[in-house]
Amino acid sequence: MPRKSKERKKAEAKMLLKEDGVEKKFASKYGYFTADGREFVITRPDTPRPWVNVISNGDYGVIETQTGSGFSWRDNSNLSRVTRWDQDLIRDNWGKYIYVRDRDNGDYWSGTWKPCMPKYDFFEVRHGQGYSILTSKLHGIRLEKTIFVDVEDPVEVWKVVLTNQSGKKRRLSLFTYFDWCLGNWSDTHREFHKTFIETWIDKKNGCVHGVKRAPLVPGFISTGMTEKPLQGFHAANPKPVAYDGDKESFLGRYGEIHAPAAVVEGKCRNSEGKWGDASASLQVDVELDPKESKTVIFTLGSTRNREEAERIIQKYSHPRVVEQELHKVKALWDSFIHASEIETPDEAMNFMTNTWMKYQAISARIWAKCAYYQSSGGYGFRDQLQDCQIFFATRPELAKKQILLHAEQQFPDGTVYHWWHHGTNIGAITHCSDDLLWLDFITLNYLDETADDAILNAVVKFLPDPKTKEVASGTLYDHMLRAIDKALTRFSPRGLPLIGECDWNDGLSHVGTKWKGESIWLGHFLYGILNRIAPIMEKRGDKTKAAEYLRRAEAMKKALNTEGWDGEWYLGATRDDGRPLGSKKCETGKIFLNCQTWAVITGVADAKRARIAMDSAAKWLYKKYGPLLLTPGYNTTDATIGYITRYAPSVRENGGLYTHAGTWAIQAEAIMRDGEKAHQVYKSFNPATRGLEPDIYYSEPYVTPGNVDGPDSPNNGRGGWTWYTGSAAWYEVVAMNWILGIRPTAKGLIVDPVIPKKWPGFKMKRLFRGSTYLIEVKNPQQTGQGVQSVVVDGKKQKENLIPDLRDGRTHRVEVTLG
Ligand code: GLC
Repeated sequence: MPRKSKERKKAEAKMLLKEDGVEKKFASKYGYFTADGREFVITRPDTPRPWVNVISNGDYGVIETQTGSGFSWRDNSNLSRVTRWDQDLIRDNWGKYIYVRDRDNGDYWSGTWKPCMPKYDFFEVRHGQGYSILTSKLHGIRLEKTIFVDVEDPVEVWKVVLTNQSGKKRRLSLFTYFDWCLGNWSDTHREFHKTFIETWIDKKNGCVHGVKRAPLVPGFISTGMTEKPLQGFHAANPKPVAYDGDKESFLGRYGEIHAPAAVVEGKCRNSEGKWGDASASLQVDVELDPKESKTVIFTLGSTRNREEAERIIQKYSHPRVVEQELHKVKALWDSFIHASEIETPDEAMNFMTNTWMKYQAISARIWAKCAYYQSSGGYGFRDQLQDCQIFFATRPELAKKQILLHAEQQFPDGTVYHWWHHGTNIGAITHCSDDLLWLDFITLNYLDETADDAILNAVVKFLPDPKTKEVASGTLYDHMLRAIDKALTRFSPRGLPLIGECDWNDGLSHVGTKWKGESIWLGHFLYGILNRIAPIMEKRGDKTKAAEYLRRAEAMKKALNTEGWDGEWYLGATRDDGRPLGSKKCETGKIFLNCQTWAVITGVADAKRARIAMDSAAKWLYKKYGPLLLTPGYNTTDATIGYITRYAPSVRENGGLYTHAGTWAIQAEAIMRDGEKAHQVYKSFNPATRGLEPDIYYSEPYVTPGNVDGPDSPNNGRGGWTWYTGSAAWYEVVAMNWILGIRPTAKGLIVDPVIPKKWPGFKMKRLFRGSTYLIEVKNPQQTGQGVQSVVVDGKKQKENLIPDLRDGRTHRVEVTLG
């Protein structure tokens, strides 16, 4: 214990550093959070990995790294990239760059760290919600680039403010540069792809246009198809003095991006046409008196036609509009952030819950469907369904839209696409056994939050029947039952659900390809769903079927507790040949986390079993940097398990911390009523506190990573796969609903905190069915749980429940624990 408190003291001391009057939270040598947690400020460019922002309005999107690298897309970050990019976490050297050149002495440098990597006199990057501000200072010139994506228009804006701090008059040229992609990511055969692209200079609008005359969907190049060109425009205000639309003209033969010929020589060459290698550059000349500042606005966007591009360029030719639109971006994010807020003694939890998890889940996962580590562009059936929980309280209509969108990806037999690219015919039919059930699980959660029973009657199409090609439709309720009915046909003779190609753990891809192997986790998951949907079915008059579901649930529970129990924990799975995974008999993959946590979450385990299973999870899986998904990691390829066995041990699903599943351990510990442990597990992978050891952790301190290497890796504790992870929405949900314990149910908000005993209490502002609740929880007896009283607007409640007032007003709730 004494060691722990010393560590804590050290961390707390680091939390608050005051320098130059700036309050810095969770500061490390690479950066810090602002006092309100809303911005992360990077103070040196060489962070251990690209520390990025994923900015999107749900249609147009941008990745911007602290080095100024990144790329842009419209609609689909995989199939319709506007600019070219290569995923290179070590060099991070593909981007849309700005160079500054001194016309009097020929000095040049880049305004962001890449591509010239200058030794700046000042460097700072601020990532906020919907925008980033990249500032540098060199040779007496301060350059501040604010980048944001408009809330509606498919355009990104770079507001570049140049300030002359050199004490003498300066004559500068700015040059921009990037390659047009205008198509899908796998633009590896550039010689082929570039033949479809044309660039042209449009002096009237101060713009270089690019168009790729090839359909969106890769592999379908045909003149017989309707041309759906992807168009891009890149404009500047004030108007450029010269342009380039060809890469060789700008870079020079064998030229490098850190020293492009046009910049070295000080002149773009006005190249354009169908014959070159498509790129875009604008040269804008600026003169600055001492202390003078001037603003240059660059836009980059992608529209369906020229007229729309011109409209947007015109709109942004007014600097006032830039400010207005940036203000709208901030207002949009404020609306999400201020709708629910917490104030607890754990400031890292406050920062994540109030701001960053919402931003990550919405901006990167649901809208961009993109990050640096994974640029998906597609929807994962289970993925964005789980993510949309982030909208439940604040924008339920967006959650509803997401649920119905996923319901449309179901075949009439109940099975679903594992993932798909919206608006195309591209989707993956796999034999994962759990995908289809997430529609039920998330709809049930949505109903708890909204009580919007009407969603069940929404009529949704099925995917065309693979045999007849007919397109049928049914209510969402019908879709949900078809998913369950299908799952109920896939059972082993011992009464356990079959795993198929995988369960939630995609990497268990070969466990049950012959449909003989079983999944214990899937049993827990399905058990919960059957019990939760049965009362709804009864209400709708489906009594017989509901009873049958409950009967199946009970039978399965029995099987899970006999066949699925390994003595000290629940088994992981069985293979097609019957051999177990996640058993004490196994040398690697001895124990699986989800099989323990979900037995508690859905109530498959009785109290005694739950204790044993969770103690085993703690003993084997809980590590300094979070709970491992399984242990020990597989160290040889095993064709009877799946592709995780090809990963290195302790990496991602092969025995690392998989943060998505890690969040469920927090929920399970809260259900076990252990506030210390729930909070300890929560804290063990909080990015803000992990960011205090940046050279171990590597990842951005403001968003969750998909995974953190476990102890069998030489990089134990290193995070990766940031932004694009299902953990963001869940990290928010488990903090709000399970540790702080304010949870939606049909009747109202249950009040059931399970917090650390020492916390004096916490405050929460929560939107629930249109009413705002300002909740203050006090913990005078240091029990951390147990509700003595709930007082709503001065009225003591009979139960620990905040009633469903639905009056659009604000209500005060006082809770006393003890
Ligand atoms: C990835 C997938 C998700 C899956 C998880 C575990 O995050 O997108 O659907 O459940 O990996 O394998």
